[in-house]
Amino acid sequence: MITSIKTTRVTQSRLETVDFNNLGFGSVFSDHMFQVDYVNGFWSEPEIVPYGPFSIAPGALCLHYGQSVFEGLKAYMGVDGLPRIFRPDRNASRLQNSCKRLCIPAFDESLFLMALDHLVQLDANWIPKERGKALYFRPLIIGLEANLTVKPSDNYRFYIMSSPVREYFSKSNPTISLKAEHSFTRAAPGGMGHAKTAGNYAASLLPGIRSLSEGHDQVLWLDGVNHEYVEEVGQMNIFFQIGNKVITPELRGTILPGVTRDSVLELLRRRGIVCEERRVSIQEIVDAAYAGSLVEAFGAGTAAVIAPVGNIDVNGQQIEINNSAPGPLASSLYNEILDIQTGVSDDVFNWNRMVSL
Ligand code: COI
Repeated sequence: MITSIKTTRVTQSRLETVDFNNLGFGSVFSDHMFQVDYVNGFWSEPEIVPYGPFSIAPGALCLHYGQSVFEGLKAYMGVDGLPRIFRPDRNASRLQNSCKRLCIPAFDESLFLMALDHLVQLDANWIPKERGKALYFRPLIIGLEANLTVKPSDNYRFYIMSSPVREYFSKSNPTISLKAEHSFTRAAPGGMGHAKTAGNYAASLLPGIRSLSEGHDQVLWLDGVNHEYVEEVGQMNIFFQIGNKVITPELRGTILPGVTRDSVLELLRRRGIVCEERRVSIQEIVDAAYAGSLVEAFGAGTAAVIAPVGNIDVNGQQIEINNSAPGPLASSLYNEILDIQTGVSDDVFNWNRMVSL
């Protein structure tokens, strides 16, 4: 088991160049990154180095056949001045599962957590202090062997970079608009929908751009067999409040098992709200809207946190939700999660990994 990480610090921090009042999502990177290579059947000595480019072979398998898995998680600055990483153990085990699906060797989860702690300590000043902003970590594992045979790579690089971010959807838009996608498919049964892999996001680009050109923020994916059942939004999982119940699509292997999804379910169940994880058809949502029982809809994800949905385009029918305004359930969940993440309220579920400075 590895107990230390060789560290080379930057000679000159770039922190001064960052405008924390105008952060976007993921376009600025902090000073340091973690990296470890897998060669000759073993993960080699891990390192923390200044963030910067590295070279890979043009024939690297990740470039040709998409052997690449990633994660997204956040560190928040607590109101007590101590950083907290939100549920990194969950991201470690999901990354491990994504590795299995893409034939990437298992990694040491305790090293992953240690690397995050070290990165937070080194780049603590990069954690934004404004509520809602965070230091977003992007761990990535890519197959590096130069080989044009379709096969798993013999060697890999695992690296973790970080980026100070605002929430994924700009606050200038209080709700987002979705287009239920009846032609394209994100994932099919037996595919890779449950894995966080580059290919799933590549598949979403064309339908995403089309939905943007039609005035929507995101695609609402339907199942890959009949385009009948709701799956997820791509950047987040989806929840509906119908009457007094909250419904979210069950995990059937075609959607991502979101960490925020799980947190929302735990928080709602603690409030005594009935939550159903089950198949939910897009027709059920339309029917509920016409019957007046569709109270709210919102997305939940690490990058997005909680994103209230104001409108869903279903085959040209516009389903307006809560008069296109954020609903009380989504707003209260947003605050409840952020309060836990920033130490405003008790971490009753023990979700935060505290980092000492
Ligand atoms: C996340 O929420 O962390 C994601 O990975 C979504 C995304 C920005 C691809």
